[in-house]
Amino acid sequence: MARPVLQLENVSKKFNDGDGRGTIVALQNMDLAIQEGEFVTIIGPSGCGKTTMLRIMAGLTAPSSGRCLYKGKEVSGPSLERGYVFQDPRLFPWLTVLDNVRLAGNKGERFLAKMHLSEFKNAFPHELSGGMAKRVALARALAPEPDVLLLDEPLTNLDLSTRSSLQKELHNIWQQGVTCILVTHDIDEALTLGTRLILLSQRPAVIQHDIVFDLPFPRNLKSEECQHWRQKIVDLTMGVAY
Ligand SMILES: Nc1ncnc2c1ncn2[C@@H]1O[C@H](COP(=O)(O)OP(=O)(O)OP(=O)(O)O)[C@@H](O)[C@H]1O
Ligand SMILES: [Mg+2]
Repeated sequence: MARPVLQLENVSKKFNDGDGRGTIVALQNMDLAIQEGEFVTIIGPSGCGKTTMLRIMAGLTAPSSGRCLYKGKEVSGPSLERGYVFQDPRLFPWLTVLDNVRLAGNKGERFLAKMHLSEFKNAFPHELSGGMAKRVALARALAPEPDVLLLDEPLTNLDLSTRSSLQKELHNIWQQGVTCILVTHDIDEALTLGTRLILLSQRPAVIQHDIVFDLPFPRNLKSEECQHWRQKIVDLTMGVAY
């Protein structure tokens, strides 16, 4: 098999807080290999360690033990090759939409257009709806043309039609060769977009199930095959609050 694009090798992450709550173990001995061209979706209970896992892959947080490798080299900090979309959009409020994305690269304007936001390029973040702000954050992550996109629930709290149009956009980005890793709470979203699903346990997160969806695109969620997978995932997550 080809060398994985991203790899976690026996990764654990502990947080020590000075607040008397002691040590929190977020990830425990996690092994995961992601191949180029996969669309990996990650589902797990709130607080189990999903964001921590993505931050380690991005190089924003170091593991307490174990290693994270990107194309065979240990990750030691963030890189524009690994785009990151945060759980909240995190735009700079004093910069226009265009300046927010330009900060990430001069192709920013092109990606704003792809997100259907050209009209709003001179607007400030407080003038945007939640969905628009998320699209700007996505355009910003895409501007440096990353090889890998790490997506932390980028489509939660959006109305159905915005959500479905952004899902199409993510699918297109993936089809153009970007390896995607998406944290979501939504089984249907995982079924719509993913080639693989990782189900995590309660904290400390360990991989409970690693499922490959061998289904063609576009996915019809009403099809027998999708319904079969959906039921299977619901059964696997029974008793765990996701
Ligand atoms: N910087 C930090 N300092 C201390 N504890 C932290 C820190 N970051 C995360 N944690 C703890 O690690 C655990 C996992 O957090 P994480 O944000 O990775 O969860 P999550 O799976 O993304 O949750 P959610 O679905 O709610 O976004 C939580 O108990 C959280 O309190
Ligand atoms: Mg999170």
